Amino acid sequence: MARVRTWLQILALVAALRYSSVQVEAQLMVGFYRTRNCLYAEAIVRQTVTAAINDDPSVAASLIRMLFHDCFVEGCDASILLDASPQNPVPEKDAVPNVSIRGFEVIDAAKAALEKTCPSTVSCADIIALAARDAVELSGGQSFNMPTGRLDGTVSSADSAASSLPSPLSSTIELTQMFLEQGLSQDEMITLSGAHTIGSTTCKQIMSRIYGFDGTKTGVDPNIDFDYALYLRRLCPEDGNTSRSVPLDSVSPNKFDNMYYMNGITGRVLFPSDTTLFEDGQTQFASKLNSQNEDLWEVKFANAMVHMSSIKVKTAWPDQRGEVRLNCRVTNAGK
Ligand code: HEM
Repeated sequence: MARVRTWLQILALVAALRYSSVQVEAQLMVGFYRTRNCLYAEAIVRQTVTAAINDDPSVAASLIRMLFHDCFVEGCDASILLDASPQNPVPEKDAVPNVSIRGFEVIDAAKAALEKTCPSTVSCADIIALAARDAVELSGGQSFNMPTGRLDGTVSSADSAASSLPSPLSSTIELTQMFLEQGLSQDEMITLSGAHTIGSTTCKQIMSRIYGFDGTKTGVDPNIDFDYALYLRRLCPEDGNTSRSVPLDSVSPNKFDNMYYMNGITGRVLFPSDTTLFEDGQTQFASKLNSQNEDLWEVKFANAMVHMSSIKVKTAWPDQRGEVRLNCRVTNAGK
């Protein structure tokens, strides 16, 4: 009964949020900076991201994750970039889920180049969105248009980040609820989780699944493929260094493809929040479909990224809650 009630609440939330998110999206536009006399805004971001990824391909994954973590907390307003200040003493970047985010210097470099060409014009929030879009394509994924026109926020709190970002231990129902609260559907949650096709985590995040797992003789979580668990044990010895890196996709770790779903159906994904998408009856079918049809997933992924990038955006019209920061790490008032 409680489960039925939760699903009814979720359905009501979908209906309420669908209308508000469509309204928000309408305020952004593809090529916004062309209308602001900054013809090369997107090219400048692209050039900076390309150079950074050529230098260190692993930064691509972090830029994609940065957009997700920015948008889920205070909306897509670059609140994740703010450093500690009297106004925001414990900012989002200090929250546990954010301490492993890298690539802030890539955004700084793009911003510095943009300030030279188009001063006070391009928001840090748009730079994050464009950088994530470019990181997908530069890692071998699909290319897509990213609407722009976001303003930067002035508020950033680690507590909000901790409560708004999903945990890797979340169940399907918890993940669905957290995405719905942001105006994203369950299918978009499944689709966006496919970003775990690139990037990495550390041994400490997975030790409890491969050693001493409760109620099993082997000590391995039975939802993980046993051979895969042995491979993970080799990467992460029981008494070894738990900060060692583990690829999220062991087959094609740097390629933005649908391998995440192929891995998932054979029990080769790392977090319980990944596994549940392949085990729960609510999500299993869509996850399997994404494993069988890469083209379909690519289209859905691009659409879902654009939708996620419109969460609670601040725009100049109809209100003035945002600004174009001059330095992405500091609000203009805090400079
Ligand atoms: C569905 C809920 C999600 C959960 C619970 C989750 C959780 C996590 C965790 C725990 C990590 C490892 C972080 C670390 O050890 O440093 C990670 C990495 C990553 N996540 Fe997610 N994630 C979710 C959804 C997403 C979404 C929607 C995206 C983007 C669209 C995304 C993109 C990434 C990427 C690319 C990485 C690799 C980062 C890197 O290598 O630096 N995740 N995620």
